[in-house]
Amino acid sequence: MPTSVLTFAEKKRRHEKIVVITAYDALTAAMVHGAGVDAILVGDSAGMVFAGHDTTLPVTMDEMLYHTRSVVRGARGAFVIADMPFLSYQCGHDEAVHNAGRFLKEAGAHAVKLEGSDPGLVARLVSIGIPVMGHLGLTPQSVHALGGFRAQGKTMEAAARLVEQAKALDIAGCFSIVLECVPSTLAAQVTQAVGAATIGIGAGIACDGQVSVINDLLGLSTGYVPRHAKRYADFYNEGQSAVRAYADDVRKGAFPSAEHSIEAPAATGRTPSAEPSIDSTSR
Ligand code: KIV
Repeated sequence: MPTSVLTFAEKKRRHEKIVVITAYDALTAAMVHGAGVDAILVGDSAGMVFAGHDTTLPVTMDEMLYHTRSVVRGARGAFVIADMPFLSYQCGHDEAVHNAGRFLKEAGAHAVKLEGSDPGLVARLVSIGIPVMGHLGLTPQSVHALGGFRAQGKTMEAAARLVEQAKALDIAGCFSIVLECVPSTLAAQVTQAVGAATIGIGAGIACDGQVSVINDLLGLSTGYVPRHAKRYADFYNEGQSAVRAYADDVRKGAFPSAEHSIEAPAATGRTPSAEPSIDSTSR
């Protein structure tokens, strides 16, 4: 059965962990969907890990629509959640509804994600048939207001506030809530307190599921890697070694060899009626 919002509720009820991963392009989406994840998040983390910005703030609606369309195309049948970028939902509910709707209508997403606590907006989106994933704790679009990419909910007051925000999002109709960089005990408390499935990133083991940024998991990044991220591969270094080997081959004349070259047909004395066909392997 393909994943839907009902799968999140069902898995929470059965205590089966929900697996979410980010993707930003068709090929990666196909790869992660083929690996059997429950849902793909087209995160605005694209702005950092794909486009090279220092924060997610510069990401635009057009960019997110492009990434979302690519992911939907690459992973037919996957449950795709599109992240609403900074200023696409904070400037009034009408504009937010219009932008959220574009992800479903123009890009083929199945749900949207928004950061922070605006239960009124969530209720409105849900009432017109747009499933919403909430996002509390470290909300990267508020990086400057938070004083950096810092763990949240560490004081009693902050923890109590976060539980109240999660309950309000739950009542408003979020099918799921991301909890980013909060203490594990707080994430466990929220998970108990809400019907929505909690999806943790840097929020410990008690969440109903986990989300990871694909680049962190594949080791496809340079520089800072968040403490909560686990590397399962070393794509950056492997990729660089492959490119070094290619460069060496080109420089010493070892590539292309006969195997990767096109030979003219043996001379027959006749004029060929058409150009030899170029198959997909000779793009
Ligand atoms: O943008 C993103 O990838 C996210 C996840 C880290 C939850 O918001």
